[in-house]
Amino acid sequence: MSQPALDVRSLDLTDPATFAENDVHEFWRAVRARRPVYWHEPTDRNPGFWVVSRYADIQSLFHHPALISARGNVLDVVLRGDDSAGGSMLAVTDGARHRSLRNLMFTAFTPRVLGEVVEKVRQRTDALMSAVVEKGTCDFAAEVAEKIPMNTICDLLSIPAADRGQLLRWNKMALSSDRADSSALDAIVARNEIVLYFMELVQERLDDPGGDVISMLATAEFEGRQLTVEEMAVNCYSLILGGDETSRLSAICAVLALIEHPDQWDALRSGEVSLDTAVEEVIRWATPGIHLARTAVEDFEVGGQLIRDGDIVTLWNISANNDESVFAEPRRFDLSRTPNRHLSFGHGPHYCLGAFLGRAELRALLSALVDRVARMELRGTPRPLYSNFLTGYESLPVHFESR
Ligand code: HEM
Repeated sequence: MSQPALDVRSLDLTDPATFAENDVHEFWRAVRARRPVYWHEPTDRNPGFWVVSRYADIQSLFHHPALISARGNVLDVVLRGDDSAGGSMLAVTDGARHRSLRNLMFTAFTPRVLGEVVEKVRQRTDALMSAVVEKGTCDFAAEVAEKIPMNTICDLLSIPAADRGQLLRWNKMALSSDRADSSALDAIVARNEIVLYFMELVQERLDDPGGDVISMLATAEFEGRQLTVEEMAVNCYSLILGGDETSRLSAICAVLALIEHPDQWDALRSGEVSLDTAVEEVIRWATPGIHLARTAVEDFEVGGQLIRDGDIVTLWNISANNDESVFAEPRRFDLSRTPNRHLSFGHGPHYCLGAFLGRAELRALLSALVDRVARMELRGTPRPLYSNFLTGYESLPVHFESR
């Protein structure tokens, strides 16, 4: 029996409300099965773009020589024209220049260099969990999750404690919002404020370098010269956003998922599943960054569709991570899942620079939950964020019962 045609127009992938107000997994399942690569029609606000949904296609496109990141890796930004940081900020730079910049920045994010940082993450997480368990009921997002990755990346950049609250507020507006009615302009203003903040801080570090990552960038040699103030500022922007948002949303998702799946919480507490496999499943389940955007620079074919030079192509990690041809029963939260080759950190040349740190932060959280919590339950409705790039919750009212 033939299936009815799939109306891919039923979901507008440019609208943040689509993801906050719908369970999109049924949609992606149908898309993977019936229109794995499709053209998202233009809307009155935006031009059209390609949507790629299958794991194998997405994984191979992360390496494809005909796709570049320099015009932007976030759909919203590419739809409005070129990313102004293209060729300067790591995530939106390609080729040999990307490799040199990545080698330079990676020196600050190797497991060896991060040893002490990880120990501090562990202590901070344990102290925060101890405080909320003693209190009983809390907003886990505000009282724990907002304080771990943000302070970790701020410590690495040596950002004064007094400035961290404002930076967190800008971060929370830059690529998502807690309101359905927030404007694209609010996001642009927040992104500009972060870059301007870092232009000033970079100047201070140039005058008086210390042992932090900004000072490392300020004193490094890149392509036989010093990085410009703008180049350093946009890369700090990328670290503060990349370092905070995705890890924070994964932590919030971890607690919600454990509350919703008590059998998995029991398996974690009893040691039946290892912290390492649990961390990977939390990151797959959360998939905090739901898509990545690229631009074609020559014609090529994928999934039987001809992509033309200049077309915008979007890779939906949220769909790849639930592709039933790779993950058995993908909508089952299974902390023992192995192998678990999720694409939450991307793949290929732009694979997440902070993956080690992101994993360490989640490991510290799961470990503190096991050590300190006997039972946990929701005490209200989690508030979703509005974005077509990030997914997760802004607020999570939870009651923790001490062990
Ligand atoms: C790249 C996700 C944590 C910094 C990426 C990409 C993804 C991602 C999907 C690929 C972007 C692309 O292909 O266009 C995540 C997730 C995290 C996380 C899910 C946590 C659970 C972090 C942390 C940092 C960070 C803690 C900061 C230290 C970066 C940077 C890039 C990147 C700088 C660009 C790498 C490049 O273009 O070579 N991340 N990230 N991320 N991430 Fe993360």
